[in-house]
This record gives sequence, C-alpha cells and structure tokens, in this order.
Amino acid sequence: MSPDRIVVMGTGGTIAGRGAPGAELGYVAGQIGVEDLVAAIPELRDVRVVTEQVAQIDSKDMAFGVWQSLAARCAHWLGQADVAGIVVTHGTDTLEETAWFLQRVLAPGKPVAITCAMRPATALVPDGPQNLLDAFTVARQAGARGVMAVCAGVVHGAAEVRKVHTYRLDAFGSGDAGPLAYVEAGRVRQLRGWPQGLSGAGLLDRVLCAREWPWVEIVTNHAGAGSRTVDALVAGGVQGLVAAGTGNGSLNVPMEQALLRAMEKGVRVLRSTRCLDGKVIAQAGDRLPAHPLTPVKARVDLLLELLA
Ligand code: SIN
Repeated sequence: MSPDRIVVMGTGGTIAGRGAPGAELGYVAGQIGVEDLVAAIPELRDVRVVTEQVAQIDSKDMAFGVWQSLAARCAHWLGQADVAGIVVTHGTDTLEETAWFLQRVLAPGKPVAITCAMRPATALVPDGPQNLLDAFTVARQAGARGVMAVCAGVVHGAAEVRKVHTYRLDAFGSGDAGPLAYVEAGRVRQLRGWPQGLSGAGLLDRVLCAREWPWVEIVTNHAGAGSRTVDALVAGGVQGLVAAGTGNGSLNVPMEQALLRAMEKGVRVLRSTRCLDGKVIAQAGDRLPAHPLTPVKARVDLLLELLA
C-alpha cells in the first residue's frame, strides 16, 4: 500500500489567529489549535491525518527550542512508512527561515509543505483554509520531496522563498528563480525540480543535542555605516556575523575592516546582499566569503556550521 498518512504540525501564526479588537491589525496570532484548523476543512474529512501542536506562537518569536522540536518531530514522522508527507502551519514572518532550517537539517525525501495565512482564522474571508488545503495537495503529491512554502496557490522552494509583502495575501516570492509549482483546482502544476539534499552527516543529531544557540547577528551596510556595531558585537562575544551588503555584497571601508578584524579573532563572517533579488557573485580577491542566499538564510547556515 502506498503511504497515505499526512502529519500536520502546528506552530501558530496568523493562520491560527483569532480576532481581538484593539490588538495590532485586530487579531492575535497563534490562538487556535491545529486540530481545529484541520477539522474546519470538509475536504480533508477522509484523509488519514495526525495533528501535533509543536508550538503556538507568533513567528516573530520563533526560537531555537521550537526549531529543535519541529525538526525532531518531522524526522520521526518522515521515518514512518505510511506517512506520505508533512504539513506545517506557521506564521508568515519567519517562515522562510524555518523552511531553510528544515531543508538543511532534514533534506527530506518526502514533501514538507509549510503553510500560513495573512488573515486570521476568524476573518470575514480567511485565506488559511485554502492555503492549508493546498499544502495537503502538495504533501500528498506523488514524487514530491523537500521543504516548500505553500501560500496563495504558489509553491516556493525552501532556498528561494522570502516574504515580500507586509499585507497582501500573496505575500511570498522566489526571486529570480520563480515558483516551484502552482496548486490549481486541487492539482499541482510543477515548474521545476523539488528541493533536494544538503543535510550533512550527523547534522540533525547535533541540532537536537545542542543546548545553546550560537550567537550570530546580521549587520547591514548602509549610508554612514561604520565599524562601531561590528566592533561592539565582537567585544560582546558574537560568534558569527552575516553582513547584508549593498549591491553585490559591497561594504563601506570601515565596516569591511571591522569584519576582517572580527575574522582574525575567530568570528565566522559571511557576506550576503540586502538586494531583494539576485545573489552575491564572488570575485577573485574577495576577502570576505560570499553567500548566495538572503541574509536570514545565510544566518541559518552559519548557525548550523557553528553548531558543528
Ligand atoms: C506570524 O508570523 O506569526 C504573524 C504574522 C503572520 O502569520 O502573517
């Protein structure tokens, strides 16, 4: 028998939000249980589903401990022969970081579809139920694999996905790469290959055993940026720094000097770009290593490297 069970892990977010007059934007995220979110969708009545509430937070408060629990539970369920795929409900604000983190540590051979909403579950016309249903469609898609974000009928790969809008329902983009697929009338129309690979040997174990989150910060180059922020972080004991450079990852001279001094003191440094699209193109003679992904994803990579 082919695997047909779908596991849904709830972490909170606006998809689980409830109206609250007086609250920011009129609601509070992470209020409704994942079991209830699934039960509210008649189309899922006949699907074999397991739900687990891993957390119930606004994803701006995403923390290492939640990532650890999520990775552990995903690893457990992905290893079950009858599980076809996993759906994760998540806030939109840090979804792209969780997606990349899970792709890096799990590199799943089955689909892990992370979904969300821009309107709370109690809105007049909520977007969460359709997004959740679409995520099920992706999680049940034969041959699909890897960590993806599913929002507004669009499927984004973990490496490319980024939140690009503060309010619109179609809040995510994939930059130059474009979406991986669309979900249209309950069917997946695939445009490119599923996310593959990356988990190094023992990486999941190292993540699960870690007691402390390495200290990694993002520093941004901008008009008037200098050395003081970097110097202060190094003096405070920072272990890794991602520089969100301008354009092709360029940095003003005092900031670059400070980052080079930081590297000499053993701080790991990566150079990304604050541009929305494109990636840093490494040049011969670069003194600070370039990273091809966004600053927040470069930071995830640095965290995982430091955990090693
Ligand atoms: C959150 O990220 O948890 C709140 C915002 C959202 O889900 O859109």
